[in-house]
Amino acid sequence: MHNLEAILTEKKYKNPRKHQMICVVAMSNNGIIGDGNDLIWHLPGDLLRVKKITMGCPLIMGRRTWASIGKALPGRASIVLTRDTSWSANGAIVVHNFLDAIIESKNWLINQQTEENRLILFGGGEIYSLGIDFCQEIELTRVFLEPEKGTKFPDIDWQDWNELNCEHHASGPNYPSYSYHRFRYNKLVRYV
Ligand SMILES: NC(=O)c1ccc[n+]([C@@H]2O[C@H](COP(=O)([O-])OP(=O)(O)OC[C@H]3O[C@@H](n4cnc5c(N)ncnc54)[C@H](OP(=O)(O)O)[C@@H]3O)[C@@H](O)[C@H]2O)c1
Repeated sequence: MHNLEAILTEKKYKNPRKHQMICVVAMSNNGIIGDGNDLIWHLPGDLLRVKKITMGCPLIMGRRTWASIGKALPGRASIVLTRDTSWSANGAIVVHNFLDAIIESKNWLINQQTEENRLILFGGGEIYSLGIDFCQEIELTRVFLEPEKGTKFPDIDWQDWNELNCEHHASGPNYPSYSYHRFRYNKLVRYV
């Protein structure tokens, strides 16, 4: 799973530039990320924070997450995974497997001629499951809720991740308390 570089070489991927994959996710205390169609919370500032973290990067997302957003996010590439070979949407770069999502993301970054080297694993649940083992960091919004059901983030061993920072925010009249965390994988440096 971690030997992606070898796979890319096998596929005769020509550009040897190394990139890193970063997971950006908001989840409840029990690992719920949404109801299958949308998020189940609206936190002040969280969308702006996600925008700042992801600006200038390719976003790897599933077709259902694309549907929940409804459009391409400006200043970023939307790399959308679907098994439907006839599917297309304005502003989406369509791929049919995870390796092609990585290749298209790397190509997009290289074409931007930027110093940016991050690919964003943007969700939802199925796409986090496909990509979390390639990620070097997790930008996590922890939402202090315990929904009974919904789409789950994959189970990972949090002992493999060091917390680099944490910022707590109190609840308000229409939203629960939440916190921002950055985690870094502590076993090896992962490149894609
Ligand atoms: N809290 C957060 O940070 C966050 C972030 C993102 C999304 N979400 C939430 O997550 C939920 C959606 O997650 P989800 O798991 O239901 O769907 P998803 O991961 O967004 O998309 C699933 C779709 O991706 C495609 N796909 C999956 N594996 C594939 C593969 N190996 N090859 C090709 N295509 C593949 C399939 O599309 P086709 O059916 O077209 O074949 C599949 O139906 C929503 O509630 C959304 O709001 C939350």
